Amino acid sequence: MFDRKTVRIDERISWFSEVRHLLSPMSGVTDRPFRAICRDHGAHMGFCEFTSASGLYFENEQTWKLIDTEGEPGRVGIQIFGQDPAHMAAATRLLLARRMDVLDINFGCPAKKVVKKCGGSALLANVPLLEEIVRAVVEAADGFPVSAKFRTGWDDASLNYEEIGALLQEAGCVWVTLHGRTRNQKYRGHADWDTIARLVDALDIPVIGNGDVVDGDSYRAMTEHTRCHGVMVARGAIGNPWLFQQMDAVDRSEAWVPPSFRAMCEVNRRHVELEVQQRGEKTGCMVVRKHIAKCFKGYPGAAHLRKLLYAEETSAGMIAVLDAAARAGDPRLGADLVRNPEDLAS
Ligand SMILES: Cc1cc2nc3c(=O)[nH]c(=O)nc-3n(C[C@H](O)[C@H](O)[C@H](O)COP(=O)(O)O)c2cc1C
Repeated sequence: MFDRKTVRIDERISWFSEVRHLLSPMSGVTDRPFRAICRDHGAHMGFCEFTSASGLYFENEQTWKLIDTEGEPGRVGIQIFGQDPAHMAAATRLLLARRMDVLDINFGCPAKKVVKKCGGSALLANVPLLEEIVRAVVEAADGFPVSAKFRTGWDDASLNYEEIGALLQEAGCVWVTLHGRTRNQKYRGHADWDTIARLVDALDIPVIGNGDVVDGDSYRAMTEHTRCHGVMVARGAIGNPWLFQQMDAVDRSEAWVPPSFRAMCEVNRRHVELEVQQRGEKTGCMVVRKHIAKCFKGYPGAAHLRKLLYAEETSAGMIAVLDAAARAGDPRLGADLVRNPEDLAS
């Protein structure tokens, strides 16, 4: 339905022609359970949270734990960051034995601890080093597809996304993802979709647009505005894996039916179970909280439901609260679901 730009899809990623809705890498968020939940709701591809190439190279156990893709169904990408071309190349060689469909390089992270070592978005201000890194990774990948994700520049005075995009294409990246913000902007203000549109025009390879897509309307607006090959979503998917169904409905020109309150409870229940399987009882329960809180935000009684869930220290307790909430009904239909805990316990 969209007038997307016709692009050159590398034969190594012929499967990418139909990949339109991607779950962005998010540190501390896009673990395997969340990727599974998003995939269940129609994400065409998911990414592990970014990992330090040096951490992989020095065999840091915690870093390797983030790469947990063995046997993962569907399309999945691994993302690395770093400032040392030799470590980036070494990490690439190690990762080739892992289950992944693409290896992505992070040139967008604005976090101080990454930038001060000249990794992530700091490389936008050091183009020669960025080039050395992408060439080292592509060479080490030995024919395995490499992509890159980056921002529009370090700051408004040094926008260089077109130069970087052309460089990445020339160095052999199979696609690029542009987050339409500068490093200095971090997550403030709006993503500038004009920059994405310009990059789409300038490159032959697919450009994935990223920034501020939170529902079907914004998905449609970004795709129409930029003609990008696909859209990557990050914050909008937290607590809202239905975002992928919304985008799918837009692609099919169909109306989207929001999930029932019961379905929301059931998905969160499954998320609790998966996180606990993956990370153990304590961490699993902690990690899933932010998703649940975001999911019910804005519902009548949401604050109370959150309080009840946060008071639970075990997955069994959290699941009991969610099951009771599901039984109690849909607050949008007027049920005063969570006015007091006794209602939920019944
Ligand atoms: C909690 C959090 C963690 C993130 N971690 C990563 C990461 O590991 N790698 C990456 O490329 N971008 C990361 N990002 C940036 C997002 O992938 C995305 O580019 C940005 O949030 C803009 O998209 P959005 O408007 O859909 O959220 C992170 C963002 C958030 C909010």
